[in-house]
This record gives sequence, structure tokens and C-alpha cells, in this order.
Amino acid sequence: MDKILVLDFGGQYDQLIARRVRELHVYAQIKRYSEITLEEIKDSDYKGIIFTGGPNSVYEESSPHYDPEILNIGVPVLGICYGMQLMAYLAKGKVSPNKGSSEYGKSELTVKENILFEQMPENSICWMSHTDYVSELPVGFETIAVTNTCECAAICDEKRKLYGVQFHPEVTHTERGKQIFTNFIFRICKCKADWLMDDFINESVEKYRKELEGKKVMLALSGGVDSSVAAMLMHKAIGKNLICVFVDHGLLRKDEADLIEKTFRHDFDLNLLRVDAKDRFLKKLENVSDPETKRKIIGEEFIRVFEETAREIGKIDVLVQGTIYPDVIESGKGDSAVIKSHHNVGGLPDKISFERIVEPLKDLFKDEVRETGVKLGLPYELVYRQPFPGPGLAVRVLGCITEDKLRILKEADAIFRQEISDFNMQNQTNQYFAVLTDSRAVGVKGDARVYGYTIALRAVTTDDFMTAEWTRLPYELLEKASNRICNEIKEVARVVYDITSKPPGTVEWE
Ligand code: XMP
Repeated sequence: MDKILVLDFGGQYDQLIARRVRELHVYAQIKRYSEITLEEIKDSDYKGIIFTGGPNSVYEESSPHYDPEILNIGVPVLGICYGMQLMAYLAKGKVSPNKGSSEYGKSELTVKENILFEQMPENSICWMSHTDYVSELPVGFETIAVTNTCECAAICDEKRKLYGVQFHPEVTHTERGKQIFTNFIFRICKCKADWLMDDFINESVEKYRKELEGKKVMLALSGGVDSSVAAMLMHKAIGKNLICVFVDHGLLRKDEADLIEKTFRHDFDLNLLRVDAKDRFLKKLENVSDPETKRKIIGEEFIRVFEETAREIGKIDVLVQGTIYPDVIESGKGDSAVIKSHHNVGGLPDKISFERIVEPLKDLFKDEVRETGVKLGLPYELVYRQPFPGPGLAVRVLGCITEDKLRILKEADAIFRQEISDFNMQNQTNQYFAVLTDSRAVGVKGDARVYGYTIALRAVTTDDFMTAEWTRLPYELLEKASNRICNEIKEVARVVYDITSKPPGTVEWE
């Protein structure tokens, strides 16, 4: 399999670059510049290297650099934004701050005839975002594109197969970005397009079947996309030697736990152990109202239940985790601020010993995980399930949690989801749910005055969940959901719709 190395210098689009390469069916691996040495690169038979953007200026002392020899090892390089400046700097050119201010936004790009721009018109739109520019070309380089404001929008040293673009071909605002990647990957690096999900499945099944023969393997199944796909893949490889433990903490949405059991035990015949731990979790959460404490309790209790179950099963050789590629990169970076402590069901129990941990999806992006899930036969609803927080409904019942409050929330949430689906809006919003607020309101039902709960409905539109807009749901949908919730759930007196974007809000209320 041909591979491209995406050498990450701290840019915000590094994952997007890897995605663009993989969309062309070539495997791209992201490594932080400090994580891989020149020797390792030489030994790893990469067909090409992409230097990513980054927030720094190359001439700052603290800015990320690399051994200049990387330009001489015979592997083609494409530098993007900071990556291009770094390339020029390493090759002994000059980089200077823009005379005016930063250039940010769409620009008209004019390209010269060059292999990097094959099949492109002379003029097209590109996306710029930079403060520095290459002011003096290194020896052996020429300028191959300009914009109105940037005299040096792309460079190349044809002989050494070094290319640089000041703009961002990976963002969709750059009209012909995909063509640039296509040219670099296939024309310049001469990669074969052989990264296909079918091959990934077959190779993984083959590999784990051999490696885990006769081993007892355990997996924590949450019903989320990642652990479900990991379970299906491992089941295909080792069948009943895989024991899936599903801890039912009672904080899933209405009927969800039964659906998980039905899908995995009955439809796919997985070796599934459903542990009913509802009462335990409720007891631990009694009188707890602080959101972070709730998360902590749930995370810890989950691990306790998992450990106890493992002990009952006996010696476990291998633990499978549904870690996916963005998780690996995120944890590797370690510099993103923790806004909420995200509890993921994969949290590692430290009291059970395993010979080994296996993470079969660790090289896949989310949509690749989904594609794998579909190919393995998982139902659409499960594979395209909207994100659901690890602590479940505990962070959607504001304040203290009781069985009653959970029941009310589950009903309201089910009604809202049903209406979204009846209005065919499920593909127009990325996450939607109900929240049981801790405030009461007065209302009239029939002729009687009631004093009941306020339910908040939330629906957001987002690409990455880092920022989000509230979804403009049709008024008719909101009206119907509100009427049904108030009429069908006697404890609810009022329904409100949350119109807060993120930032300043977060998606969840707690
Ligand atoms: P926030 O509320 O941080 O949510 O804007 C962003 C996305 O993350 C999900 N979320 C969580 N997921 N454990 C999780 O596994 C958590 O504790 C948690 N909190 C929020 C949220 O549903 C949204 O998709």
C-alpha cells in the first residue's frame, strides 16, 4: 500500500489534508514533526511528504523546523502555507512578513504551466491565510503561481520534486484544490490508488484471526459507532472468542439498550454480555448535581462494573478498544484545552491485566469507520447515529438525577426525535435532543393549574462540533413537538427551544 506522510507543523487543517489524500484512495499518515526523525522517514517508504501549515513564522526561534536534509532524500514534498515557507527557508531562501497586513480569504490564483497544476485553468479561486511570504527564492526554485497580492503563491524545484503553495488546497474554498492533490499524489509521487475499505476489512480480519487465535478477547460495547464497528470487525475475525460487554447504566435514550441487544445478540449472534447496572449508577448519582462530578462518577463506576465483569469471566488475554484516528491525534497533541472532561467508554481499567490492547480502527477517520460499519452489515441507524455523550442522559437531566426525571426526559426526547424524523429533518441537523431543565413553570392543563418541568429542545448544525449553529427547525415541527410533549407527559408544563450557538454555548447543557 502506497503511503503519504503528512508532517504536521501545528496547522489547523492537518486532518483535512489527510482526508483529502485518503479521498483519493491513498493512505495518509499524520505525524507531528517532533514525532518522527529523518532516519525513520527514510526507512518508511513514503511515496510523498506534505508539510502542513502552522501558526508560526519560520524566522522565530521557537517555530517548528526540520532537518533540511529532508529535501534531499528523493521523496517528493508538497509544502502548504507555513509548509511552503519552511521549505523555502530550509533551502536557504528568504521569508519575510507581508508589507501590509495578513492576507486572509479568497484570492484569484494565476498558475503557470506545471505538473502540479495540470488539468487546471490559468485562473481560479484559492484560499489564502498568511502573514509571511517567500520574498527570495532558494537556488533551484522558480515561482509557478501568483495572486493579485502575492507574487509568490506557489514555487517548485522540479529537479528535486519539491513543491510549495502559499494557499490552502485542502479547503473547499480553493476551487481546484482536489486537482492539486491529484497531481501531486499521482503525477508527482506516482502513488497507486489502493486504499479501499474492503481491503482494510479483509486485511484486518486476516491479521487478527492469525494473531488472536485461541485468545480470550474482551470489548466494551457502548452502542456508539466506534465500539460497534470494532465489535463487528473483531467478531468477523475471531467469532465467539470475542466477548462484548455492554454495561447498561440506564442513561441511554428510550429503547436504545434493547436495540443494542437485539442488533448484536439476535441479528449478528455476537457473544454479548448485557450487564444491568441501572440501580448502581442511580445510587451513585443520588443527590449529585455538579456536572463534572456526575461525569467522574459515571466514568469510575463504568470501570468498576467492567472490572467486576472481567473478573467473573476469568482471565482475559486481550482488550479491544474502539479508538479512532482523530482520538489518536488529539491525545498525541495534548494541547487542546479541556472544556469538559469527556468520558469515553473506552477508559482503561487499571485493575485488570491484559497481555495486549488491540485498537483495530486506530487508522480510520470517522466516515471511514462508518463505511466499514456499512460494509460489515450494521444497520444504517446505528452507523449514522448522531453523537451521544458517554455519560448519556446524566448530563441532560440538569441538577440531581432521579428515576422519574430520567423517565420524563426519555419520553420527551423520543417525541422530539420522532417529530424530527416525521418532518424528514434528520439530515438537516447534526445533533438533536431534549434536556430536562431544573426549573419549573406554571401552566394550565384542562382547567387545572399545573406546576411542572420545563423541557428544552436543542438541535445544532455543525461540521466538527467545535463550533455549532442552532438549527433553524421549521416552526410547525417545534409546535408539534411542544404540543405533544406537554400533552403526553403530565409532569411537563413548558417547552423551550435553545437558540444559543457554540461558542458561547456548548452543545450539551452540562
Ligand atoms: P459540547 O457540549 O462540549 O459537545 O459542545 C461537543 C460534542 O461532544 C459531545 N459530548 C460528550 N461526549 N462525553 C462524550 O463522549 C462527554 O462527556 C461529552 N460531553 C459532550 C456532545 O454530545 C457533542 O456531540
